Formats: sequence, C-alpha cells, structure tokens
Amino acid sequence: MKKPVRVAITGAAGQISYSIIFRVAAGDMLGKDQPVILQLLEIPPAMGALNGVVMELNDCAFPLVAGIVATDDPNVAFKDTDYAVLVGARPRGPGMERSDLLMANAKIFSVQGKALNDHASRDVKVLVVGNPANTNALITLKNAPDLNPRNITAMMRLDHNRSISQISEKLGCPTTSIEKMVVWGNHSATQYPDISYATAEGAPVKDKVDNDWYVKTFIPTVQQRGAAIIKARGASSAASAASAAIDHMRDWALGSNGQWVSMGVYSKGNSYGIDEDLIYSRPITCENGEWKEITGLEVNSFSREMMTATEKELAGEREAIAEML
Ligand code: NAD
Ligand code: LMR
Repeated sequence: MKKPVRVAITGAAGQISYSIIFRVAAGDMLGKDQPVILQLLEIPPAMGALNGVVMELNDCAFPLVAGIVATDDPNVAFKDTDYAVLVGARPRGPGMERSDLLMANAKIFSVQGKALNDHASRDVKVLVVGNPANTNALITLKNAPDLNPRNITAMMRLDHNRSISQISEKLGCPTTSIEKMVVWGNHSATQYPDISYATAEGAPVKDKVDNDWYVKTFIPTVQQRGAAIIKARGASSAASAASAAIDHMRDWALGSNGQWVSMGVYSKGNSYGIDEDLIYSRPITCENGEWKEITGLEVNSFSREMMTATEKELAGEREAIAEML
C-alpha cells in the first residue's frame, strides 16, 4: 500500500464538498491504491454541520481513508497538505454575475494563500473552485510567494466538460469521442469555448456543425450554463462542479493520457499574447504530475477577439482587488 497523502478541502460542509469528499475518499481522484488523510476546513458556524459530514464519512468505512481532520483553522487544515481544493466561498444567487462575489470572497483567498505558503507541502497542488475562481486563484498565488506559481490553478474543467457534452448531444456521438476541446480565459460569461481544433470521432467538429449554431447557440449556452442551473435548481451547480474538480485533480496528478484539458493556469512567457500575470484558461496536457501548455496553435481573428475580451475582464478583476495582491 502507498503512503497516505494529505488532501485539504475547504468549505467542507457546503454542497460541492458534500460530493467531492466522498469521491476523494473512494479513490476517484488519486487512484484506488492511494490512501488519503482528509483535512477539512470550515468556518466556526458550520463546524456542527461538518461534524455530521465526518460522521457520515466514518460510516462509509472507506478503506482508503487513513485519517480525518476537521478544523476551522486554515493553518491546521493546510499542514503538510499535498493537495488543496479551495471550495469554501459564497456562491452567487439568481441575477448575479460571478464577479459580484469578488469583494465578498477575496479576503478568504488572501488568508488561505498565506496559510498554504506557511504550512503546505512545498509541492502542494492547489485547485481554486470558489468564485470568481480565476481571480481568487491569483490572490492565493500572490499570497503564497514561496510556492511554485505553476501549482496554483483555477477550475475551468466544468466549462470544458459542459462544452464536450453540448457537442456530443448535437452530433449524437459519445463524449469520449470528442477531443481537443479548448476553453480559453475566465470562468465567467466571457469565457471562450473554442471548437477550432476539436475533433469528434477523429473528424473536425467545425466541419460537422454550422457556424450559426456555434456562435449563436453553443458559445452562449456554455457561457451561461451556470446561470441556467441556478435558475432551474435555485442553487448553483454542485455535483457537476465536484465531478469537474475530481477530473481536474486526477488528470493533473495521474496524467491526462495525451488528452487536452482546460485549466486556469499562471503561464509565464506571454504565450498566445495573453498577459502572463493572470490565471487564464488554456489548452493543457498533463503527465507525471506536471501540466504542460499546448503552444503554437493558430488563432484566427474571431478567436483573437474572444480571447482578448475574456483577458480584459480578468485584467479588470485584478485591478479591482489590487490591494490583495
Ligand atoms: P455552499 O454555500 O454550499 O458552501 C460553501 C461553504 O464554504 C459553506 O459551508 C461555508 O461555510 C464555507 N466557507 C465560507 N467561508 C469559508 C472559509 N473562509 N473557509 C472555509 N470554508 C468557508 O457553496 P457551494 O455551492 O459549495 O459553492 C462554493 C463555491 O464554489 C462558490 O463560490 C461557487 O460559486 C463556486 N463554484 C465554482 C464553480 C467553478 O466551476 N469554478 C462551479 C460551481 C460553484
Ligand atoms: C457554475 O458555473 O455552475 C458555477 O460557477 C456557479 C455559478 O455561479 O455559475
């Protein structure tokens, strides 16, 4: 049996974590041979509810769970942690944009960035889920100067998975047959789900769909999917967000087997001409615990316009929270 690794999950009594924690415990994220010590963080008023989650975890008698820590102190939750999934933050309600959460949630990520910097494993892999995820990840990164900036990422996998699902439904082919999907930019209504390079059953997706459907139906559907779920459910996406978080971390830790995925990353070197001081989603493959950007793709004028719009929004968010950096 492998040595246990430590997985910190914040917002551990919230709705997304209620799906994530049990899947991590079952081995869906790091493998069926990898024991885990779960380090669960909440705020004091939610510790009673977190205690209930811990009781349920115990009742599952998961063979891979080698320990559980439940705490309201980030310094304890992040102690020696190898993986950190930062979910704890306020979700938006109907009629709000994710950026409306910027001020409400920014402080959480400056405190947690510092705690990660001081206590986590030097190789900790961090995924920020709490919205606005990209800018919260930037705040985390700037408050953790001793950690490798490559190891602090934002979740765009839900948008990536939503894109694949929409194409699969449109073409009537399995999700597994769709490759080389890319979602660029911010996890917001400006994100750019780009089918320029995508294939379905080996053939270009753009040859199989008309441009009108792509521009007027597909892009807005993916951009607005979070809002549509809030409208339908009266609460923001939870199980699908948890599933995307598991996918993101699993591929990063164990490899994406050559498949392209979308991750919000801090990418040095101005690739694609994007301001490098942002957490911007790009096409990525993962191998041996490292992510690698797919570079050198041709960018047409429509794509450039869409990529710049989402970059500008991220730069504006960075400006709004400049004092947290
Ligand atoms: P929720 O309200 O059900 O749970 C959030 C939990 O975080 C609560 O239990 C709360 O007590 C806790 N919390 C608040 N401040 C905390 C802190 N400082 N430390 C630790 N825990 C803290 O919300 P949810 O539905 O689970 O959503 C969580 C976040 O994830 C929201 O910001 C939501 O918008 C975001 N989200 C992101 C994506 C994405 O794709 N990136 C998808 C879905 C939801
Ligand atoms: C989502 O995309 O479902 C989440 O970010 C929740 C939201 O506010 O849309």
